[in-house]
Amino acid sequence: MKRKVTKAIFPVAGLGTRFLPATKSIPKEIMTLVDRPLIQYAIDEARAAGIKEFIFVTSRGKSALEDYFDHSPVLEQELRKKGKDELLETLKNTNMDSGAIAYIRQHKALGLGHAVWCARRLMQNEPFAVILPDDVIAAEKPCLQQMVEAYEETGGSMVAAMEVPKDKVSAYGVLDVKEDMGSIVSVNGMVEKPAPGTEPSNLAVIGRYILSPNVMRNLNKKKTGAGGEIQLTDAIAEEINQDRGVYGFRFRGQRYDCGSKAGFLQATVAFGLAREDLRDELGAYLDEMVASRRAAE
Ligand code: G1P
Repeated sequence: MKRKVTKAIFPVAGLGTRFLPATKSIPKEIMTLVDRPLIQYAIDEARAAGIKEFIFVTSRGKSALEDYFDHSPVLEQELRKKGKDELLETLKNTNMDSGAIAYIRQHKALGLGHAVWCARRLMQNEPFAVILPDDVIAAEKPCLQQMVEAYEETGGSMVAAMEVPKDKVSAYGVLDVKEDMGSIVSVNGMVEKPAPGTEPSNLAVIGRYILSPNVMRNLNKKKTGAGGEIQLTDAIAEEINQDRGVYGFRFRGQRYDCGSKAGFLQATVAFGLAREDLRDELGAYLDEMVASRRAAE
């Protein structure tokens, strides 16, 4: 019998060196798109998909993340006193129920597969989700929710997938497609960061996963792969011949690579324009910018 997916792992142990010096003192996941930290987008998406337990795989220097999800009685009292109900409501979304959130330390940066494996003792024999908060996906129906629905049909491990330009594909996990059924594809193989020219397709893995307990067992072997790291992609690929196989899911939505500066800035503009309170002012400014760039050409 298929089991409901109620737990999600958020690997947040990375150093965020691409965003230095900012990440010298703030975790990358606390950096904000408009006024919400990256991690809040990931949590909201997980909640919408029915996730009840949130497991963070952290590292040294990430305590701001733990504080972020805590209640802040002084601040709340102050807002209540001043009658700022809307802000109080906003804060409520950042609070987690006691026991719904767990923090596990990854003591050594041995790769994404290793980070996920660090959470093994919090898992029973059950499927689980993994969300990489760097990949922010704007969608009418949140991406993980779309995947949970697709997973109810297939029952196999599932990764979010997206076509990427050929010159970018070697930065990703890449799918070797067996059968293309439209939004769902079955998979023959998966390669992490293939050398240019060796990629099996341009269908890349994006940071949303629903994984069978087999994947956690496969990670126990601690095999190293691309870049000398323990790769999640490899542990999922092993599942192709186990149980119900592996599927890619072409989600409906716009993905922003917030692990890169250009992607982060694009997301900032897009999320700003999507906000009613900012749309007009920001839009007018962008129009002006574009016009003056054109005039200068
Ligand atoms: C990770 C995964 C990779 C995936 C990518 C999506 O790579 O290992 O398979 O395609 O996320 O963002 P990273 O970006 O951490 O190098």
